[in-house]
Amino acid sequence: MYEIVEKRVLAPNISLFKVKAPRIALKRKPGNFVVVRIDERGERIPLTIAGADIKEGTITIVTQEVGRTTKQMVAMEPGDAFQDVVGPLGKATHIENYGTAVTVSGGYGVAAVVPIAEAFKAAGSYVISIIGARNKELVILEEDIQAVSHEVHISTNDGSYGQKGLVTDVLKHIIEGERKVGFVIAVGPTPMMRAVSELTRPYAIKTMVSLNSIMVDGTGMCGSCRVTVGGQSRFVCVDGPEFDGHEVDFDEMVKRQKMYLDEEKRALEEYLHG
Ligand code: FAD
Ligand code: FES
Ligand code: MG
Repeated sequence: MYEIVEKRVLAPNISLFKVKAPRIALKRKPGNFVVVRIDERGERIPLTIAGADIKEGTITIVTQEVGRTTKQMVAMEPGDAFQDVVGPLGKATHIENYGTAVTVSGGYGVAAVVPIAEAFKAAGSYVISIIGARNKELVILEEDIQAVSHEVHISTNDGSYGQKGLVTDVLKHIIEGERKVGFVIAVGPTPMMRAVSELTRPYAIKTMVSLNSIMVDGTGMCGSCRVTVGGQSRFVCVDGPEFDGHEVDFDEMVKRQKMYLDEEKRALEEYLHG
């Protein structure tokens, strides 16, 4: 069992957990994820490792409620424990000094880019981070991002905090500004990662996206996370999760993400209404 030692509610639908997992804490690198099963009967879900404390033997995960399992998880408290936490999985982020590196994130993606931004900064890059949210209440981990970035820009759809609009508006402004952007990484909702990739394409700026395809085993065996990148089949769990955003077949990916909508709806109904 993997005990929850700390919980912080970051936004109405997003919670941060510190979970006892000393071996994973020791080995994890930016970009890695874990596959978690809440209890014996639970499904397996992938979650990014947002941080670790080797001394405490804990890893940090940040969960955004979207359906049954994430709702169940967000209702858990310190002292509760997960049945399984498997990891670290996936390839680590390739870190290199690209001069100026921009991170773009939204939702749980903000937590996922914290260790990535930190590693780029340590490698000597000038790090600009853009956080997007629907409104002020949903902006999370601003201080954590601030600590690992040289500049932070925030955009909200309703203008209740930071700049009104989309993260792509902010990114375009930065790209057309004085600093030559050498690298962009986007982590968050698929439409956002797609829009960022389309924006950077004409500028030929290397752009990585962290794909959130459906995963079951997380070890390359089941095939559920298959995506097409540069015309080739790839498994997000072992070949990714980060891929060149200019090469990803987003149409196919979005279709595959919606494969189990009926089952997911049924599972949520069952959880909420018995
Ligand atoms: P459901 O109602 O079952 O599904 C809602 C939607 O989530 C689905 O339509 C589908 O698009 C997606 N989804 C469902 N099952 C899975 C699955 N087994 N694997 C992947 N996606 C699924 N979420 C976070 O909140 N924090 C994270 O740090 C995080 N990191 C991720 C890292 C990776 C590499 C991947 C692939 C996904 C990550 N996700 C993360 C997404 C998270 O796994 C899904 O939101 C979660 O599985 C949804 O489960 P559910 O039962 O609550 O929702
Ligand atoms: Fe099964 Fe990737 S999750 S192959
Ligand atoms: Mg589910």
